[in-house]
Amino acid sequence: MSPSSNLSFWLSLTLLVVGSSASLSSYAPSITACPDTSKSPLVRKFTATKQKLNPLEESFICDRESTVIPENWKAWLGDGSAIGYKTADFVDHFARIGLAFSGGGYRASQFGAGVISAIDGRNATAVAAGTGGLLQVASYFSGLSGGAWLTAGVYMNDFPMVQDMVLGSQPGWLLEEDLLLPGGETDFTDAANLEYFSAIDQSVDAKAAAGFNVTIGDGWARMLSYHFLSGTNESNFFDTSSHGAGQLWSQIADATFFKNKQAPFPMIIVDTNGTFDLTTESTSLNLTVYEVSPYEFASFDPDVSAGADLTFIGTSLFAGVPVNKSSCVTGFDQAGFVIGTSSNVFLGELAEGEAEEIELLQELLGAPVEDLTPANAVVSKWPNPFLGLSPSNVDSLNPELELIDGGTNGENIPLNPLLVNARALDTIVAVDASADTAQNWPNGLSLLFSLERLSTILVDSHQQLPEIPTSTDDFVAQGLNLRPTFFGCNSADTPLIIYIPNAPPINGDAPFTNAPTGQVQFEVNETQVILNQAYENTIGGFVPNANLPDPNWGRCLQCAAVDRSRLNVKPVIERSAFCTKCFTQYCYNPANLTSSAELPNRQLTYAGPNSTAL
Ligand SMILES: *[C@@H]1O[C@H](CO)[C@@H](O)[C@H](O)[C@H]1NC(C)=O
Ligand SMILES: *[C@@H]1O[C@H](CO)[C@@H](O)[C@H](O)[C@H]1NC(C)=O
Ligand SMILES: *[C@@H]1O[C@H](CO)[C@@H](O)[C@H](O)[C@H]1NC(C)=O
Ligand SMILES: *[C@@H]1O[C@H](CO)[C@@H](O)[C@H](O)[C@H]1NC(C)=O
Ligand SMILES: *[C@@H]1O[C@H](CO)[C@@H](O)[C@H](O)[C@H]1NC(C)=O
Ligand SMILES: *[C@@H]1O[C@H](CO)[C@@H](O)[C@H](O)[C@H]1NC(C)=O
Ligand SMILES: *[C@@H]1O[C@H](CO)[C@@H](O)[C@H](O)[C@H]1NC(C)=O
Ligand SMILES: *[C@@H]1O[C@H](CO)[C@@H](O)[C@H](O)[C@H]1NC(C)=O
Ligand SMILES: *[C@@H]1O[C@H](CO)[C@@H](O)[C@H](O)[C@H]1NC(C)=O
Repeated sequence: MSPSSNLSFWLSLTLLVVGSSASLSSYAPSITACPDTSKSPLVRKFTATKQKLNPLEESFICDRESTVIPENWKAWLGDGSAIGYKTADFVDHFARIGLAFSGGGYRASQFGAGVISAIDGRNATAVAAGTGGLLQVASYFSGLSGGAWLTAGVYMNDFPMVQDMVLGSQPGWLLEEDLLLPGGETDFTDAANLEYFSAIDQSVDAKAAAGFNVTIGDGWARMLSYHFLSGTNESNFFDTSSHGAGQLWSQIADATFFKNKQAPFPMIIVDTNGTFDLTTESTSLNLTVYEVSPYEFASFDPDVSAGADLTFIGTSLFAGVPVNKSSCVTGFDQAGFVIGTSSNVFLGELAEGEAEEIELLQELLGAPVEDLTPANAVVSKWPNPFLGLSPSNVDSLNPELELIDGGTNGENIPLNPLLVNARALDTIVAVDASADTAQNWPNGLSLLFSLERLSTILVDSHQQLPEIPTSTDDFVAQGLNLRPTFFGCNSADTPLIIYIPNAPPINGDAPFTNAPTGQVQFEVNETQVILNQAYENTIGGFVPNANLPDPNWGRCLQCAAVDRSRLNVKPVIERSAFCTKCFTQYCYNPANLTSSAELPNRQLTYAGPNSTAL
């Protein structure tokens, strides 16, 4: 008996014993009568030069910026005198800020979480450091791949504080349970693993039985749901309760914290498969980039320029109209599926090297997965809401979109939605946990990809990036991946970018924040160290030629966050002396380049245990 047929045997036994469970099958979308689409169309179309935001997004931003954010600025900056301004002068003119959290698996989720704790105005030590408060003045929040998991952790769990979100008992991310094989790392056929996969299988089967094409991307969606959605804990991990099935991305809009505009507006990035060649891993900048907000699935790429109501995503539409008015779909926007789509390259990596493991996974999942090859294992299938709508788009004739990891086009920091012209952002915080170097640190590559895509494909639709170094070598030589940097300080026609790289501890400690992307299990004490290191760096800034935090950094971050407000006031308010001094240290200045030599004694080698990688 081959291991895999043995496996099918055990799996079928398990299924007999377990039976079906209504709650696990809540992963299946349902069919309902369509709403009156003459009154509320399911799809809206615009053009690159006449963009329109979703009206619900517009009203969310308007409310948050008129009621919540001004108070939060006052709470953060006080009267402004500590940085040389009067906060009151900026009222009605505050800079519009977006936060972008990169991909990079569990490393990126945990690093991003540590950054959030450092900018959270609810964290007393972060407030004392001057950095805590930035989260509360942001209007937008974007995430992709590992950053999408973080986004789900924040938005699907009532905007919790980080320590509670990641390591709290309810919900907690449970990263100590291996993502792929929680029942035991070495054996796919371990009884606990079989229970786990059989529960996942029930969800995926239910979706398939409802008439939807599923792929391993659906199994992946369910695996992530155990960690980043609510409903799973150490005691019920292997039971057949719902484990987040039925929790929808569109339901974020129903949460009280969201209705009260307590958090920035969230968006997840996914790419179309397009011309991506998994076997060579070549990136293609012309892959369409889509975004998923609580309200819609949309793309502001010029050749799409359309948005579809997220509540009814999954419905067969042609030219924006339901093909069958009695047959609209709800419940397709499973939160696990949204973040799973944004991160499915993980499975591609697995498939690439390990065709046998993919086969095994397919068998474990047991769903009517189509013939799997390494190339198609990776896609997640979404009925195309824009079918027949945008003749010039690569996907316009595909009934189904084959969507892949949001970082596949090389843009690992989700800047795309934040640079959409109509959103008019002033300032973007780019949190970068990419593994570009051999030791899993970023080197600016994602920014370079974004720069290229923006300046070739998105000229009419998106704001451009300010000047950055022209190569990753320069980026590293200038030490820009070892400490926070402000880009575009004096470039009024682009947003100001606050770049926060994942970097080694400034005090010279051995780093834990650079775990390999494929590491899918972390002990609780490792996670705690990662959160602490990310937090300390984010509240620390840097002192040139030293291993000390900068006591001015918190206020310098305030300077950068508020800076564009000055230009919104007429007449323009001059930059304060204090902030000018900050900007000399923290701004990228092509006429006065910095050097990595000013950042001594940073340890680069990962200090954590090298546990199972994909
Ligand atoms: C603030 O964040 C740090 C780092 O995550 C954490 O250790 C501390 O407990 C937090 N403080 C509060 C009050 O949550
Ligand atoms: C499922 O895939 C088949 C074959 O590619 C396609 O014809 C069908 O339209 C798809 N179903 C849905 C619901 O998109
Ligand atoms: C685990 O979660 C289940 C379902 O939400 C709940 O009934 C149970 O009390 C939880 N167990 C613990 C130990 O928190
Ligand atoms: C339209 O959808 C309804 C409900 O799912 C179904 O009963 C009906 O057969 C469909 N009509 C066509 C023409 O497919
Ligand atoms: C993704 O795109 C590549 C290149 O066009 C193609 O070879 C592959 O079959 C596509 N994957 C799927 C599942 O369609
Ligand atoms: C994307 O770029 C590739 C390589 O430059 C090109 O071959 C392909 O036709 C482009 N696809 C689209 C849809 O523009
Ligand atoms: C976590 O605990 C284990 C077991 O006590 C220990 O070996 C390891 O060094 C600890 N790791 C960290 C980062 O503290
Ligand atoms: C160049 O930058 C350094 C800090 O990196 C600063 O001390 C110095 O004053 C700057 N020189 C000029 C001319 O701005
Ligand atoms: C982990 O692996 C790296 C690269 O192989 C190695 O340099 C490092 O020492 C290892 N760390 C531990 C704790 O084994």
